[in-house]
Amino acid sequence: MNKSLVKDQSRFLITGGAGFIGSAVIRFLINETNHSVLNLDKLTYAGNLESLKDVADHERYHFEQVDICDQENVARIYREFKPDIVMHLAAESHVDRSIDGPAEFIHTNIFGTYVMLEEGRNYWNSLTGIEQKNFRFHHISTDEVYGSLGAEGLFTEDTAYDPSSPYSASKSSSDHLVRAWNRTYNLPVVITNCSNNYGPFQFPEKLIPVVILNALKGEALPIYGEGNQIRDWLYVEDHARALYKVATEGTDGETYNIGGHNEKTNMEVVKTICNILDELVPEHPAGISHYDELITHIADRPGHDQRYAIDASKLQNELNWIPEETFETGIRKSVKWYLDNEKWIEHVSSGEYQNWMENNYELREAK
Ligand code: NAD
Ligand code: DAU
Repeated sequence: MNKSLVKDQSRFLITGGAGFIGSAVIRFLINETNHSVLNLDKLTYAGNLESLKDVADHERYHFEQVDICDQENVARIYREFKPDIVMHLAAESHVDRSIDGPAEFIHTNIFGTYVMLEEGRNYWNSLTGIEQKNFRFHHISTDEVYGSLGAEGLFTEDTAYDPSSPYSASKSSSDHLVRAWNRTYNLPVVITNCSNNYGPFQFPEKLIPVVILNALKGEALPIYGEGNQIRDWLYVEDHARALYKVATEGTDGETYNIGGHNEKTNMEVVKTICNILDELVPEHPAGISHYDELITHIADRPGHDQRYAIDASKLQNELNWIPEETFETGIRKSVKWYLDNEKWIEHVSSGEYQNWMENNYELREAK
């Protein structure tokens, strides 16, 4: 699709928009474009409407609490909202949870993606002319589909799939479904495979928020195994910009890898956070004088991939995208965000965030 073919005021259907990356995409769409957004989200434990409170009242933002596996409601939303572009982010996203309980990952990530594709195809077949030509289904996926790298080399778009966890196997399956709907039914699709994201509003089950929040409480910083595994970190707002580029300018049927050129071992990441906290929060919890004293090595994750690293040159050369943040600037911003957003953290830690919509509406009605 050529950029000029995307109308200035298009309709974007975002699945998983109450999650970490989906909420960044929606904040981008509302604040930086004139497009309308429908956020389709089931609000699992990972969905938090409080992450969208700055755009929730905007006239171009709409929300429907729907499960992507609920075929009838998904069909209704396609019919009623009439999206120009679908950005499909809804998924179970946490590797450790997939090891403890894979069923939900298989259901949501595979069957849910099938429902989004099949109802997307029915809807797309009902369109005509330029609307049908410009429709686009963008599937948001992960670099974990490629498995683990050795010391050398980078994942390219041609790297063979070799997933290790139930999570990455379910995401691989969903990628294959998306390609099949493109090749078999000609549904216009693009796929992106991205490396580890970090930044504001990330649920405290992932490494970076776990470390920041545990350190502030004086609790153990859990490092799986030696902590020498390598991830390629990308600031979430850079990811949101990349996703918008691919959704609106990417070539039909193509895959684009997205990465931050920021390879770090887990120990490097944790020590960097500790150093920033030593500087910004010098009143340490009782019994320690440096946050890294809290580092605790624990049992390794089963099937733990050793190294991920992305070759993002296709996205850079074809769509002119590069990340704006380095790891050093992005991680400092992230630590500061967690220090400045006590209420969001308090609500996430207490479970209060799951009542945020009702409480907020009660407050509004009481005004
Ligand atoms: P997240 O766990 O923070 O959010 C997932 C969102 O999906 C939540 O709002 C949740 O309520 C919603 N959801 C889950 N199941 C649903 C269902 N059945 N129906 C409707 N909504 C449902 O995830 P994230 O980290 O923002 O990741 C978003 C997407 O990006 C995922 O597809 C993930 O695989 C992919 N991805 C994530 C990363 C990362 O580092 N976090 C990197 C690359 C790709
Ligand atoms: O690479 C992209 C993927 O990045 C996404 O597809 C996933 O949705 C996302 O969760 C993330 O997966 P990881 O497993 O890499 O992220 P996580 O934050 O869980 O772990 C990062 C690294 O830190 C990993 O090597 C495991 C390790 N780790 C994690 C946690 C939560 C620890 O050592 N201790 C921890 O407490």
